[in-house]
Amino acid sequence: MESDSFDNTYEEKPEMFGNPYKELQDYFNNRPLRDNLLDLGCGQGRDSLFLASIGYNVTAVDNSQVGVQQMIDRAKSQGLQIDGIVDDIQNLHLEKKFDIILFDMLLHGFEKSTQLDLLSKYSNFLNKEGILCIVYPDDFQADYFLNMLKYLKSDWTLLDEITINDIPRIEGETIDYKFKMMVVLRES
Ligand SMILES: C[S@@+](CC[C@H](N)C(=O)[O-])C[C@H]1O[C@@H](n2cnc3c(N)ncnc32)[C@H](O)[C@@H]1O
Repeated sequence: MESDSFDNTYEEKPEMFGNPYKELQDYFNNRPLRDNLLDLGCGQGRDSLFLASIGYNVTAVDNSQVGVQQMIDRAKSQGLQIDGIVDDIQNLHLEKKFDIILFDMLLHGFEKSTQLDLLSKYSNFLNKEGILCIVYPDDFQADYFLNMLKYLKSDWTLLDEITINDIPRIEGETIDYKFKMMVVLRES
């Protein structure tokens, strides 16, 4: 995935992907806990801003400096606290573990070997009983990512695969597919 292009695009389109998907909002609104969440490839922070606004403790990473700055500016203007980091998620060093790790419209864009590396790397930053949330176009299936997780040491259980009908409307682009969000529990 290229990131330079996102800097330019984010400058031109300050709210490129619009609001978080309704289905994602419903899912996170309905969870009883408001725990530590890592948003990988956060872009301009639409998910992170929403999640922080409902009480999650959010760390958000993207290698688009512009996207992260737009998110931080919005967070400040809304009185929200988000720990925004500009970095490549393939090289990122983190000092703490999380209860939830979110990949929204990111993981499917990498080569399969990189997807496996990223799942392996970030499973080490997920607390036991933590959840991994992956949003992908619906030509992928939850099994595709679940089969990769099976190579890792932990045990995983698929809690949900939610169809997202509320797809973003991006100026100048036609999206003629839906997304899905899988939610996987790390059991051990
Ligand atoms: C399709 S956008 C999705 C943004 C956000 N998750 C959302 O749903 O609004 C993908 C994002 O991943 C970021 N990205 C791609 N490769 C990355 C990498 N290696 N490290 C960090 N961010 C990356 C891009 O800069 C871009 O902001």
